[in-house]
Amino acid sequence: MIFLKTDEEIELLRESNRILGMTLGEMAKVIAPGVTTAQLDRLAEEFIRDNGGIPSCKGYEGYPATLCTSVNEQVVHGIPSDKVVLKEGDIISVDLCVLKNGFHADSAYTFPVGEVSDEVMRLLKTTKECLYLGIAQAQTGHRLGDIGYAIQSHAEQAGYSVVREFVGHGIGREMHEEPEVCNYGRRGNGIVLKSGMTLAIEPMILMGRRNVLIEDDGWTARTIDRKPAAHYELSVAVRNGKADILSTFEYVEKVLGERYI
Ligand code: MF3
Ligand code: CO
Repeated sequence: MIFLKTDEEIELLRESNRILGMTLGEMAKVIAPGVTTAQLDRLAEEFIRDNGGIPSCKGYEGYPATLCTSVNEQVVHGIPSDKVVLKEGDIISVDLCVLKNGFHADSAYTFPVGEVSDEVMRLLKTTKECLYLGIAQAQTGHRLGDIGYAIQSHAEQAGYSVVREFVGHGIGREMHEEPEVCNYGRRGNGIVLKSGMTLAIEPMILMGRRNVLIEDDGWTARTIDRKPAAHYELSVAVRNGKADILSTFEYVEKVLGERYI
């Protein structure tokens, strides 16, 4: 069952997403060599609660933290730890959900740590392009497969591969609602998009082969070939014929300045 949102509900989603976006901005301020992912997690939780939100990944199906922090070959759901110390040249995907007024926000950003190789920067840039190309397809009358096709074709043209095991999703009163939003697909396939649908679109793009495994902690997904992975996510509403982006990278952009790609 797909829940269509009213204009009022969409504004509540935007408010949750604003807190989330500001939290990503706080992460942009502190991500640097020597910082641990557990430090990021503590800062994020405090910041969200100070702003009247609830970090809703924490406790979700037993997940132990506010953030998913996935470094280099980790794709998604990396668990923050005092033992994970960021170093120059790493990349880190920070993915989180914020609940406020009964509505969940969901967004993720992959940050470079210090100077990162041109090869890896190209992966980040292409993955973010995939996200915006997918979003551009989130229009009334288009189909779900149009989103997946736009993402997959751009990633594969760049020589990268697309994760199949994890997908985007509807979002609202539940963190994960129908429909599943695959990052691969065929044009003209799948359900027709309607005004009021709210979707979290989240391409996970790999430099190497598309295969992933789950580490022994039961959560962390990483590439089998240990080549890097990138992940960007924004929540959007299908509205007035086009995509209305509810999440925001504007705070990240402000902090990163010319380092924002
Ligand atoms: N933010 C994630 C997503 O994009 C959810 C992570 S699963 C959790 O769907 F267990 F960490 F919450
Ligand atoms: Co999501």
